[in-house]
Amino acid sequence: MKLSRSRKMWLVMVICAGLVVAQYQLASSWLITTQQPQPLSETMQTAIDQLQIDDSVMAAVGERVIRDIALQISQKLSSEICTSVVDSELQPVSGKQTDENGEDIPTLYIITPTYRRPEQLAELTRLAQTLMHIPKIHWLVIEDSRVATPQVTQLLLRTGLSFEHLIAPMPDIYKNKTGSKPRGVSNRNRGLKWLRANATKGVFYFADDDNTYDIALFQEMRFTERVSMWPVGLCTNFGMSTPIVRNGSLTGFYDGWIAGRKFPVDMAGFAVNVKFLLQRPKATMPYKPGFEEDGFLRSLAPFEPKDIELRADNCTKILVWHTQTKKNKPAVVLDIKKYRNTNLIHLRHLIV
Ligand code: UGA
Ligand code: MN
Repeated sequence: MKLSRSRKMWLVMVICAGLVVAQYQLASSWLITTQQPQPLSETMQTAIDQLQIDDSVMAAVGERVIRDIALQISQKLSSEICTSVVDSELQPVSGKQTDENGEDIPTLYIITPTYRRPEQLAELTRLAQTLMHIPKIHWLVIEDSRVATPQVTQLLLRTGLSFEHLIAPMPDIYKNKTGSKPRGVSNRNRGLKWLRANATKGVFYFADDDNTYDIALFQEMRFTERVSMWPVGLCTNFGMSTPIVRNGSLTGFYDGWIAGRKFPVDMAGFAVNVKFLLQRPKATMPYKPGFEEDGFLRSLAPFEPKDIELRADNCTKILVWHTQTKKNKPAVVLDIKKYRNTNLIHLRHLIV
């Protein structure tokens, strides 16, 4: 086809304008913005994909710089998956913010350790949509990772919940150890550090990303004055872990694994008052697999079993379950050449 001179000029101008727009797109992708995301051109995306996978480029330009660029670009790409950052279809409850006397109800700080794995987004979707039913919460989502996963930030933003997305990698000495590891401990200690720096009152709760929570549980823990406790289902070979209550008083603990623990309870089985924590500046969770809960509760001394506030109708109800998700193998790598120009290019950012 023969093009006239003016048509050629027109074509060149259109290409130049396209390049300027593409450059602007890239420059504005350094931060997650609340703007409506714009699609990237297919050519640009292919170039980015090459950049992310080509090791020789990595070596030549400097691994760190490339990593940063790849991360920023992956944030941009993941933001394309959602039509807007806060999803108007999803609305957390505003709920009752005051008690019967018109006093503000205490804020619940929910500390959730999480880490990148095939199940992560599924677990966090379920937990997020449980928390969306709860008034007056602040969710501390803390990743065992060196960088915050953009897909997780995206999920959190979409829910409209009040949250912090923090990182706290497990120290290498524990990570490289064989046998059981102190899972979620660096994350939870980071959460405690955040509370010490930012909170003055309220109640906090360690909510692992993979458990199943009845929304009634959050009402039970809300007015904790020191430490409150309740049963946890699907825990140990006893089928549950719970305080034993006789005539309204605590007489011991029912748990398939006592192991000399003073507080043989599950992580999901207690909540703590923030002021009570702040009065104990040394309280911390030890990196001791199996003894995290006991170690933390002991570190709250002065605190004895007689001080425990029993909840869930004197521990007669199960409002949280220690569910465990089947582990999935990492997905095979998508052939991006074969599937260019398809939806799979977008979806691959959501799977691990
Ligand atoms: C329970 C307790 O919650 C853990 O604190 C304890 O380490 C563990 O028992 C144990 O005694 O071995 P469990 O359900 O067995 O946890 O373990 P996970 O659900 O795999 O991990 C607990 C939490 O830590 C989860 O929220 C998970 O996302 C997080 N986690 C797990 C990490 O942040 N990094 C990891 O490497 C593994
Ligand atoms: Mn678990």
